[in-house]
Amino acid sequence: MRVQGFPWYNTLDMEETKIRNRVRSFERDVFEMPEMAADLGKGRTFFIHTYGCQANVRDGETLAGMLVNMGFTEAGDVDDADLVIFNTCAIRKAAEDHVFGEIGNLKHRKEQNPEKIFALCGCMAQMPAVVERIRTAYPQIDLVFGTHNLDRFPRLLQDFLDRRERTFAVESVPGSVIENLPVQRTSAYKAFVNIMYGCDKFCTYCIVPYTRGRERSRMMEDIVREIKEFKASGGKEVTLLGQNVNAYGKDLGMEDGFTDLLNACADTGIDRIRFYSSHPRDYTVSSIEAMRTRENIMPALHLPVQSGSNDVLRRMNRGYRIERFYELFDDMKARIPDMTFTTDLIVGFPDETDEQFEDTLKLVDYCKFDLAYTFIFSPREGTPAAGYADGIPMRVKKERLQTLNDRISLYARQKNQGYIGRELLVLCDGPSKKNPDTYAGYSEENKLVNFTGRNIQEGDFVKVEITDAKSYTLDGRAAERKGL
Ligand code: SAM
Ligand code: SF4
Ligand code: F3S
Repeated sequence: MRVQGFPWYNTLDMEETKIRNRVRSFERDVFEMPEMAADLGKGRTFFIHTYGCQANVRDGETLAGMLVNMGFTEAGDVDDADLVIFNTCAIRKAAEDHVFGEIGNLKHRKEQNPEKIFALCGCMAQMPAVVERIRTAYPQIDLVFGTHNLDRFPRLLQDFLDRRERTFAVESVPGSVIENLPVQRTSAYKAFVNIMYGCDKFCTYCIVPYTRGRERSRMMEDIVREIKEFKASGGKEVTLLGQNVNAYGKDLGMEDGFTDLLNACADTGIDRIRFYSSHPRDYTVSSIEAMRTRENIMPALHLPVQSGSNDVLRRMNRGYRIERFYELFDDMKARIPDMTFTTDLIVGFPDETDEQFEDTLKLVDYCKFDLAYTFIFSPREGTPAAGYADGIPMRVKKERLQTLNDRISLYARQKNQGYIGRELLVLCDGPSKKNPDTYAGYSEENKLVNFTGRNIQEGDFVKVEITDAKSYTLDGRAAERKGL
């Protein structure tokens, strides 16, 4: 067996991770497809199973782009594919367990069809303990490559096919930024555009800084070029991606890089710009002002807060006090009253008291979020919080999650009811799978709208009159199509 990327680390070490990913040359590398890989996929099919966040979805699109460039064609499911890639997520244990379940089921398939190639990539592939488990207990997995080795995938695949030796390319290299990677986008109208990779925040519960490395920004001209090209091909909406987009450019020495970037993206004239996700610590008034003044920056903000308790926030290493979050919230609402506001919340952080949980409920009562993604704390091996003493039983954590979710959906429904009778501009994602006269799409405020209408195409902007509201969706009917 050939193992690339040694030494790997048996435990995730915060200091080591910080050091090994800090080095960053501002030169960006430009991807070139290895010549010999160009015909690799002729007559072969692939299927990619993507788990986790938008960063992974975008990586999946890059992998698909590479494979199509190598002559592969996309298969409808795992059974029809010669090459199956599991593009994994490690954010919570449940995500990891799910993948282990899926790849466990492949053993039988591999015995029946040894020529079939199974590969695993994504965040789990950057976790030493996970890689070791795959190496020793999952021989059906042929190729493992981490998030830092995405650009090497064609060569790794070519090597594997030449030698048929299990290959692990899992090293965490000093942060690089590679441009010109091929892409096969899932939608012709909506695109994810990476503006930065990695995360520097080291929240004590979170695995991402270890699996994705230090924050590194793409050059602004590369981002703008990608958006212009997408627009020229008929694209309507871009979502700028990063773990903390409002830290954009800090590593490049820019003072207010995110605002500059927002304005440069707005100047491209693309119809809609969104961004995901922000961090309260890096908030700048100027970026909210860009949202307010630039028509094509959508009035929807996702700002994860995690907890309403100062003690919990401190132990999470979030870097702000809750009073600051309240202030930000008030300021943003004052500047853009129509803006929708969503967040992430964790319950059951180690030794979270009833009072601390109450503080989170108080915050929810105050902010009345349009939506919140809620999670029970999941200890991630090697992160500081995984070692914190925790006397809170899982039963209590589950009860808290239920209480929180009930509260969130109450406000979500109230907020949505406020849209009844209003007209929203929706970018159509296509007809509903169940009913061809019903369409779905997102409004400028990022509300999911199901609506009736006729002869509407994916990618059309449609004015929709809202007739009904549920907690997480709005119903309506098409009033008029714009620009047709
Ligand atoms: N970078 C974003 C931020 O901090 O605002 C979020 C990134 S993370 C992919 C998405 C969400 O997963 C986090 O906001 C947090 O609520 C949740 N999360 C991360 N690690 C977790 C853990 N160990 N247990 C439970 N939830 C977790
Ligand atoms: Fe994880 Fe915190 Fe970074 Fe978000 S900011 S990715 S929660 S370490
Ligand atoms: Fe999961 Fe990695 Fe995203 S851990 S949430 S796929 S950055």
